[in-house]
Amino acid sequence: MIELAPSILSADFAHLADQVRAATEGGGTLVHVDIMDGHFVPNITIGPPVVKSLRRVTALPLDCHLMIENPDQYIADFVEAGADWISVHQEACRHLNRTLQHVKESGAQAGVVINPATPIETLVEVLDIVDYVLVMSVNPGFGGQKFIPGAVHKIRRLSEMRASRRLQFRIEVDGGIGLDTVAEVVRAGAEILVAGNAVFGKGDPKVNAQKLLKTATEATLQKV
Ligand code: DX5
Ligand code: ZN
Repeated sequence: MIELAPSILSADFAHLADQVRAATEGGGTLVHVDIMDGHFVPNITIGPPVVKSLRRVTALPLDCHLMIENPDQYIADFVEAGADWISVHQEACRHLNRTLQHVKESGAQAGVVINPATPIETLVEVLDIVDYVLVMSVNPGFGGQKFIPGAVHKIRRLSEMRASRRLQFRIEVDGGIGLDTVAEVVRAGAEILVAGNAVFGKGDPKVNAQKLLKTATEATLQKV
């Protein structure tokens, strides 16, 4: 099943509850929350207090994408604030297996993320313990960037690896997803679509979300 995870990075933070509600009415089934520390990525966003506030205004799972150094130090704080899904970057974890186990033990769904320049081979030893893999289709740090096409073959190969090893993880894609790019990532095997600018950039987030999901769902029918 295709799911849309609107990224609040592009939302109006002064009206976050309204923006999340609109995206949910448009079919969003997860709320993607981008956590940036100014070290792992060249931007700073939000931390556990905002997650805690979001928890009060939505029943949807909060999908927290940690773009931070030393994620282990903050996993408990995010879970306590209300995070349901937590993904950590392969590039930020010296002991990736340990960090993912830490996420799982905290009770959250555990995801691993790879940057555009990181090959999927670096994930071979953790694919059997993760709940989802997040393939970045932009370099993380900012919303509204251009989709990097190399993500498509990574999604396709991950999907093949999952089938051949009979694994269960889900495949999420993040960055530059819009009406012009969503079909090809869905056809390659992406199931969870993160979209910031395409949902909250301009116009009505509800209508934008509906259009994106419709285009994505139609693409599943063309999947080969
Ligand atoms: C970028 C973030 C994304 C971002 C995507 O580092 O991880 O979640 O919000 O934004 P768009 O959909 O605008 O590329
Ligand atoms: Zn993200």
